Amino acid sequence: MNILGIETSCDETAAAIVTDRAGGSRILGHCIHAQFAEHRPYGGVVPEIAARAHLDHLDGVIRRTLGEAGLDLGALDGVAATAGPGLIGGVMVGVTTAKAIALVRGLPFIAVNHLEAHALTVRLTEDVPFPYLLLLISGGHCQLLIVEGVGRYRRLGTTIDDAVGEAFDKSAKLMGLGYPGGPAVEAAALTGDPQRFDLPRPMRGRAGCDFSFSGLKTAVRLAADTLPPGDQQAVADLAASFQRAVAETLADRTGRAAALFRARCPEGRHLVVAGGVASNGAIRAALAATAARHGLTLAVPPPKLCTDNGAMVAWAGLERLRLGLSDGLDFAARPRWPLDAEAPKAAFAGVKA
Ligand code: KG4
Ligand code: ZN
Repeated sequence: MNILGIETSCDETAAAIVTDRAGGSRILGHCIHAQFAEHRPYGGVVPEIAARAHLDHLDGVIRRTLGEAGLDLGALDGVAATAGPGLIGGVMVGVTTAKAIALVRGLPFIAVNHLEAHALTVRLTEDVPFPYLLLLISGGHCQLLIVEGVGRYRRLGTTIDDAVGEAFDKSAKLMGLGYPGGPAVEAAALTGDPQRFDLPRPMRGRAGCDFSFSGLKTAVRLAADTLPPGDQQAVADLAASFQRAVAETLADRTGRAAALFRARCPEGRHLVVAGGVASNGAIRAALAATAARHGLTLAVPPPKLCTDNGAMVAWAGLERLRLGLSDGLDFAARPRWPLDAEAPKAAFAGVKA
């Protein structure tokens, strides 16, 4: 099958075509228009600007993706789009475009949950069987889940306040680093001393697998207020100290989840980390050690597939269509769409995709 995937739930206008023809699964075309320039003056994503930018760029992004793949619409077997959760104006642009292509070409339409797309991406590039333990760390989410299969998730923990990517973005702003914050903090931390600032490790050692990042963010604000103006070394030291605190916090909570996962799913072999924050090298290294301690293998998609992209949506669409799952053209875009509908509602579990 050749599947076109469309991603418009936040600030990336993205499309890709993936295939499972001729043996292995592969990406045939992959194109992203990142809207950083449009949002940078505001220091964060402005929903209305994002929706309009998706409208302006999506047709061109799809055309370039088809060109890169050397295919026309007639070669497709299905069209998938992120249908939630996310900024609803942007989600509607992607969903409407995908439905239009599906209708005109008589193709199945697959409404993809953005979180499921992050959750399954690793299976596009690596042989990772179900079940696996998933740490999903993005701009809007911080969750630990057992992935039992396509559409089958058990949540073990979530953030009770900020998402981890949000903590990176807000802390970067406090330190005077650029937008988006995650890559800027990681770059600054390379030359910093992670021991210099004594920052908290929220929830460390507590029962359960929930996360909290608001206290860490406050500690960064207090430390940032003490920095001598123009002292770049101090900024690098604070960035490194913050990154170390996040990595150790994630490792602690994930360690608890790994013990639960081993008890519940003894046949499971992998810890998978997904979402934009999974592209952070220091966090990957900390989680590799956690995985090893619990007899698991760490599997992380390559960085370009960790941050939002079309290939993850196309792949989730392909996995669903292979199981005979597709959606009607009356499927409505959803601002909220939890992966585990049975899990207790988490009031502050992050708002964007
Ligand atoms: O998955 P994603 O692209 O979008 C959402 O679904 O939210 O994740 C974006 C988040 C942003 O908060 C960004 O700062 C963070 O991922 N991020 C990083 C890195 N690259 C992106 N955080 C830490 N280190 C990075 N290298
Ligand atoms: Zn995402």
